[in-house]
Amino acid sequence: MSVPQPSRGQWSSQLGFILAAAGSAVGLGNIWRFPYMAGKNGGGAFILVYLLCVIGLGLPVMLVEISLGRATQKNAVGAIEAVAPGSRWKALGYLAMLTGLGILSYYSVIAGRVLACCESYVVSGFSPTADLASAGLGSDVVYFFVFLALTVFVVAGGVQRGIERWAKVLMPMLLLIMAAIIVRGLMLPGAGAGVRWLLEVDFSKIHLDTILDAMAQAFFSLSLGMGAMLTYGSYLSKRQNILTSGAWVVTFDTAIAILAGFMIFPAVFAFGHDPAAGPALIFGVLPEVFRAMFGGGVVGAVFFFLICVAALTSTVSLLEVITAYFVDERGWSRRRAVLAIGAVTFLVGLPSALDFAGIAPWNRIAFLGQTGFLSIMDFIWGNLSLAVGSLLLCLFVAWVWGIRNASDEIASTSPAFRKIAPVWQFTVTWVAPAAILAILLTLVL
Ligand code: PHE
Repeated sequence: MSVPQPSRGQWSSQLGFILAAAGSAVGLGNIWRFPYMAGKNGGGAFILVYLLCVIGLGLPVMLVEISLGRATQKNAVGAIEAVAPGSRWKALGYLAMLTGLGILSYYSVIAGRVLACCESYVVSGFSPTADLASAGLGSDVVYFFVFLALTVFVVAGGVQRGIERWAKVLMPMLLLIMAAIIVRGLMLPGAGAGVRWLLEVDFSKIHLDTILDAMAQAFFSLSLGMGAMLTYGSYLSKRQNILTSGAWVVTFDTAIAILAGFMIFPAVFAFGHDPAAGPALIFGVLPEVFRAMFGGGVVGAVFFFLICVAALTSTVSLLEVITAYFVDERGWSRRRAVLAIGAVTFLVGLPSALDFAGIAPWNRIAFLGQTGFLSIMDFIWGNLSLAVGSLLLCLFVAWVWGIRNASDEIASTSPAFRKIAPVWQFTVTWVAPAAILAILLTLVL
């Protein structure tokens, strides 16, 4: 049964939406996941495929989600119900929520480690040689909990209030500090090898799983395929421009990911680390850069603090997707919804936390070509599930809602969209579904 919509929140301006959506997009996906994926998949070749995926699939799917959200002004499940009442497509809404919970569960573990690193620098009195190793082990569970609690706290207050304000100040700060770290990294002896590794495209390194990783990384980084942009789009007023907002978010997010590459890999090579080290990559490398930096302790503390906030604006969007459902459709109070979902997420995330801390026997288990519980979770939810979700969202919008209706929704505030609409329609109706399906199928076959 659907409860009448209480008056829902709305962004105060178009900039408010762009900042919140960029806040969702920019996060550990850019700073932690992009470098680890690029490292695992051989550098330049991965980045090239990634950029193609962002332009060819990411931006189109971004417009799919925002338009569906704004047209219906509903959460992921409610939006589908509104377009196709009583249909089985509703399951797509539930898949979106489940994916959100899956990602939130391990994402908060990594974010917790970031928080711990920040604290280590502060506690050491901003010493560049702060001992970050102590940030690992049992404390991973504690910091995971703390980070999750922070997310619950923010979402309990309603998304719009906090995020708009924070993002305005912190995003530019993040860019500045990244620039400083990049400059220092490039000055390290041997850094050139890292730059070359980032820019050189070795086509022999492009395999099918490279393509899956790159495509999924595009969805992950842009927060697509699980209803986050749909939900945020639902708080967008009918006056605001979907096309330019979406394009800004994509541009900003991609720029930060590439910058993160230039921040990490020159240092990886200069210090002789293994680019394919996996999820722990940035935690091994960055502290070494800070050690070599003037005022490295302060830079380290500020940097990890900013990443923490960037991660928080992302986890908030993950939790918001699930919360919006319970509040809109089930009539729960926000408080009750976030506490219940937070508790479940903590339980689901515990094995990931113990794995990342290196104290669980399941950090050796292998499944679907991944080793370790956290990596397996990341693969299932961050790769497969987002790809499936994006595929189904395209099909739903193109074939059930009607691609014309979606186009009209976008064009209503963006007349310029009419010019590119045919390309977008063709992409969403045929190209994107076929491409995603083909890439997913090669995995099984
Ligand atoms: N885009 C976020 C990041 O890059 C992660 C995320 C994925 C957030 C999916 C919401 C939905 O960190």
